[in-house]
Amino acid sequence: MKFGFFDDDNKEYVITTPKTPYPWINYLGNEDFFSLISNTSGGYSFYKDAKFRRLTRYRYNSVPIDNGGRYFYIKDEDTTWSPGWKPVKTILDKYECRHGMGYTKIKGEKNGLEAEVLFFVPLKSWCEVQKMTLTNNSDKIKKIKLFSLMEWCLWNAEDDQNNLQRNLSIGEVEVHDSTLYHKTEYKERRNHYAFYHVNSPIQGFDTDRESFIGLYNEFSEPQVVTDGKSKNSIAHGWSPIASHCLEIELKPGEAKEYVFLLGYIENDADDKWESKGVINKTKANQLIEKFNSTEKVNAAFDELASYWQDLFSICTVNSGDEKLDRMVNIWNQYQCMVTFNLSRSASFFEVGIGRGMGFRDSNQDLIGFVHQIPERARERIIDIASTQFEDGGAYHQYQPLTKRGNDAIGGNFNDDPLWLILSTTAYIKETGDYSILDELVPFDNDKSKAKPHFEHLKASFFHVVNNLGPHQLPLIGRADWNDCLNLNCFSTDPNESFQTTENKANGTAESLMIAGLFVVYGKEYINLCHKIGKTKEAEEAQPHVDAMVIAIKTHGWDGEWFLRAYDYYGKKVGSNENDEGKIFIESQGWCTMAGIGEEEGLCHQALDSVKEKLDTKYGIVLNNPAFTEYVLEYGEISTYPAGYKENAGIFCHNNPWIIIGETKIGRGDQAWEYFKKICPAYLEDISELHKTEPYVYSQMIAGKDAFIPGEAKNSWLTGTASWNYYTIVQYILGIRPQYDGLKIDPCIPKNWKTYTINRKFRGAHYKIIVNNEAGVNKGISKLLLNGQELKGNIIPLQKAGSLNKIVVSMG
Ligand code: GLC
Ligand code: GLC
Repeated sequence: MKFGFFDDDNKEYVITTPKTPYPWINYLGNEDFFSLISNTSGGYSFYKDAKFRRLTRYRYNSVPIDNGGRYFYIKDEDTTWSPGWKPVKTILDKYECRHGMGYTKIKGEKNGLEAEVLFFVPLKSWCEVQKMTLTNNSDKIKKIKLFSLMEWCLWNAEDDQNNLQRNLSIGEVEVHDSTLYHKTEYKERRNHYAFYHVNSPIQGFDTDRESFIGLYNEFSEPQVVTDGKSKNSIAHGWSPIASHCLEIELKPGEAKEYVFLLGYIENDADDKWESKGVINKTKANQLIEKFNSTEKVNAAFDELASYWQDLFSICTVNSGDEKLDRMVNIWNQYQCMVTFNLSRSASFFEVGIGRGMGFRDSNQDLIGFVHQIPERARERIIDIASTQFEDGGAYHQYQPLTKRGNDAIGGNFNDDPLWLILSTTAYIKETGDYSILDELVPFDNDKSKAKPHFEHLKASFFHVVNNLGPHQLPLIGRADWNDCLNLNCFSTDPNESFQTTENKANGTAESLMIAGLFVVYGKEYINLCHKIGKTKEAEEAQPHVDAMVIAIKTHGWDGEWFLRAYDYYGKKVGSNENDEGKIFIESQGWCTMAGIGEEEGLCHQALDSVKEKLDTKYGIVLNNPAFTEYVLEYGEISTYPAGYKENAGIFCHNNPWIIIGETKIGRGDQAWEYFKKICPAYLEDISELHKTEPYVYSQMIAGKDAFIPGEAKNSWLTGTASWNYYTIVQYILGIRPQYDGLKIDPCIPKNWKTYTINRKFRGAHYKIIVNNEAGVNKGISKLLLNGQELKGNIIPLQKAGSLNKIVVSMG
């Protein structure tokens, strides 16, 4: 069942009922100011950091779900309604929500009055614009009252929820004409405030929640709206809000537009006040001035559209399969940008009060957006690397506001360092900018410890080499990519976090996933060393990679697949000898991507085992059989009910590793089948089961052991976005940036006849037409560059500005 449809021409998903199986959301903003908005206009806004600079309050896990947002109430005679259905929930005559690129349009109609609200965050601006268009489609004059509502968060979103003994006394506001200011804590250590403005005179306002809603009422029936009259309340402590009241008259056929503006302002510490106790509004007035008319707002909206148009024009596919095209050309790239912006910090699942930017997450995310915004990718790499320790280890997370490593979480996730090699080499292959390697980058955020970025990669490589266990395989530390495989944790205390507890410090548990990862990115490191003439470093590194391959073959093969790990006691994890968790996906992915034992057929066999034991109708599960009991020496993985999350859920992030493994051995039909199973556009028809948005990937789809297999959770902020984008474009469609050109190496279903990719790469345009008359999965028989036959499958770099046509014949 569907709850809307894709409108590809407008790059929108159009939701046609407010009652989606879960709130279906969108993200507004790309740089400093962000908003999340659901299809009923729920959600919240923040500046840079969802925890430390939360502007508006949101109630997670609320009843009803998705409670709180930017709400409008329209009082039209006896009927009160909201354009996005919620919070009033009056049944609308018409409803539509269009989630587009950085904007959302919500339209409701009731009794001949149409209200459309366009929400977006203009480029380079610290505000959310809400353009409301009211149209009287009836043949009578309409006299209505329009109330807005926004609830302020007291800045620190975590403290806001639990420090009520203080917070109920500190709320402060100011009102000036049509602008309602939120200035809690401004007089002490905060040099920032927020405001909510409308570009029209108002007939009333409220800033105190209890006055507006009434103590025993809900968002759906605020007292002020019922009474049809604002109380002009000023909040003193308690919960500050911002609500305007506008009395509006519309003739038949008439339309009126209003611009509401939620803004954020920072002032210099010594220029905070206009007069004693009155905030300096100069910057607020400037911001308001920028967006105080429909014309200005429309111009900003056009700018936003061309911004996205430009980004998406860098790589487009025309495959003849509209679902594939819309993922590659629109939604998958869009999701990659959202994960670039927010990592795992703020969604309806990641509540934005705990997690910062993950070291491994942010490095992996980079492969999904580096082609779009290389300069920002560079900055991101440096930010991440600056939190690395001198021994190559890393803080697991850092806070986006301070860019410092997060002490509370610490480090010791031994896969972390290697992802820095992935991101940095992906960046150089895309841009050709080797200068990043010479840039001085601090260790542990300490400038006095800065070294050229290359030294960070070297430290990453040697962190693995210097942390090997009894089988000469990498020590796992707290966990590897699988945060829940906590082999040194041994927790019996429910108040301990599996992520931060390591009761058996210096344990010798080893990871086959890190082993495979090390072979892949160790080779990448060596390759880079050769490329930049660091032959000595390359020669120094090579034996370690060779030794790892041998260690995997000797100690990591279980007979039909790769083991997952050795536990604290040196016992096998992910072996046929185990009763539960006999086989895991991650080591099959990384060891086949590394091509371990390809000559002996190990890769084929491992992937066949994946097909047999882990593949399901809805994707590849993480392990099998699922754990049904808590295993002290395995940790969190065995805590989840069977079929969910890391315990045999379909953890979408790692499915592409298997897909890449399949492409390495040339099984294009299998690769594509796996891809389609988790790709959201192909799941639109089962939205009632899948539940989350059909336009973005979710972190997890419930596995075959779950109560409801196929049900997805945790949409949006997941490494799935970048890995799937990377996999479809670089390994299935097969267009792969290299240091010296574009490699063409498709691995596709036999029945695909042809597709075209347009790629901008280092300033030149490449139109690549792939023909598969021969009906093969992989292999190229002929490659023409501007009519000239090329040897091999790498298109050398062409002159900046040139337009090049490449015709590829497979066979
Ligand atoms: C979450 C984390 C990621 C981890 C994965 C598997 O997505 O953000 O860091 O690798 O779970 O546990
Ligand atoms: C839980 C989740 C995992 C996530 C981790 C860190 O363990 O299962 O997916 O990565 O928390 O927050």
